[in-house]
Amino acid sequence: MSDQTPGNVAFDPRSPRLREDPVAFWEGLRAKGALYPNGNGTWVATSYRACSELLRDSQNVAKATAQRLANMPRGRFYDYNVNTMAFMDGPEHRKVRGAVFPAFGPGNIRRMTETVEALCGEFMADLKGRPGFDFMRDFATPFPLYVICDILGIPRDHRETFGEGAHAVVAGLEPMAPPELIARADAACDALGAIVTRYARERPADPDGDLISFLKAQHEAGLIDWDQYVNHMIFLLVAGHETTSTMLSQGMNYLLRHPEQAAALRADPSRAMTAVNEILRLHPPLQFVLRQTLAPVTVEGVELPAGQLIFVLVGAANRDPEMFPDPDTLDLARTNAASHLAFIAGPHTCLGSNLARLEGRMVFERILREMPDLMLDGPPAPNQNFLFQGFSAMPVRQSAPHPV
Ligand code: HEM
Repeated sequence: MSDQTPGNVAFDPRSPRLREDPVAFWEGLRAKGALYPNGNGTWVATSYRACSELLRDSQNVAKATAQRLANMPRGRFYDYNVNTMAFMDGPEHRKVRGAVFPAFGPGNIRRMTETVEALCGEFMADLKGRPGFDFMRDFATPFPLYVICDILGIPRDHRETFGEGAHAVVAGLEPMAPPELIARADAACDALGAIVTRYARERPADPDGDLISFLKAQHEAGLIDWDQYVNHMIFLLVAGHETTSTMLSQGMNYLLRHPEQAAALRADPSRAMTAVNEILRLHPPLQFVLRQTLAPVTVEGVELPAGQLIFVLVGAANRDPEMFPDPDTLDLARTNAASHLAFIAGPHTCLGSNLARLEGRMVFERILREMPDLMLDGPPAPNQNFLFQGFSAMPVRQSAPHPV
């Protein structure tokens, strides 16, 4: 088995091979072992068991945030990150996550279902009559943004600032982001912060209201401070946008390239949730996450010292044949499809996973039902991100091409 990247590094997050041939890429890394040194001081976890154990070990394993923050220039983007739960661990993380968590509980999910349903209807009504459109520009990018705007309770007038801002913040989180990307992320946090602060000041606290009012109630109850309140509104906007957009585009790309799977799903819509989970398993929007040991740990028989940085390769774990037989096939009857690690596992498990699954289920179901003739109108254009490997354009059409 040849190395994945030039030099001695087994896993390079910027390797173009990850996008060109994910099956061979992940298989090659898994063939080297479940957990092994990467050749540059870091380690890589590739098996489902190793990744899952590391993610769930809240005692001995934490997010590798100190390292990332040490390399990040002080500024608005830095302040944003340190105030969000994604950069916290231990008791502080539990407290802040606990304050935001009820917003994504069963009662609110019911309300979110109505929002997602209504928005999906709006998008379908607009697109159904069009012979062709760009699925990225006209659906996958704006749809999750409108959903999160409605849930937050912020008018969609800000969608351009939000869309561009969320994009810039995500780009700032790319591995080894250059200074110009950090500067753009600084400016984006300034712009997004100004908008959400205005609404945060105006809106009354209401534990049963939209997300802004609910989080204000949590702030007034002393569960989160003002900076955490404001920055979590930015964070939810960002966390709910590019991830979901990537899931929708990867899913549509898959279904349009596998008409037999699309037909099976159309014939039995009760499989839609399995389809969403299988799409997330095969194409997790976040292909890997970084963790660090706090104390020596033994995982899969391998001893790791304290302070060790580990790439937890979600993309490899999700295709581990020991966990998912015939791993490279989307299987609408897979019984453990929901066990994928696209939302990871353990204390930092994605808070928006139910909302994201809901969006995926509703969009795929309705597009297959209401646009049965939809097809790709040329190859989709891959985006330039390493962290979120989706598309920048995906031309589709609903009618036969014009004769030339
Ligand atoms: C398909 C869509 C989504 C995917 C694949 C996804 C994936 C993830 C992953 C992998 C993490 C953990 C990152 C880490 O710890 O290193 C995470 C965290 C998080 N996600 Fe999502 N996400 C999605 C959608 C959403 C949505 C719609 C929201 C809310 C609006 C959301 C809110 C969050 C929050 C608040 C966290 C932080 C949890 C914590 O640190 O305790 N996500 N997500």
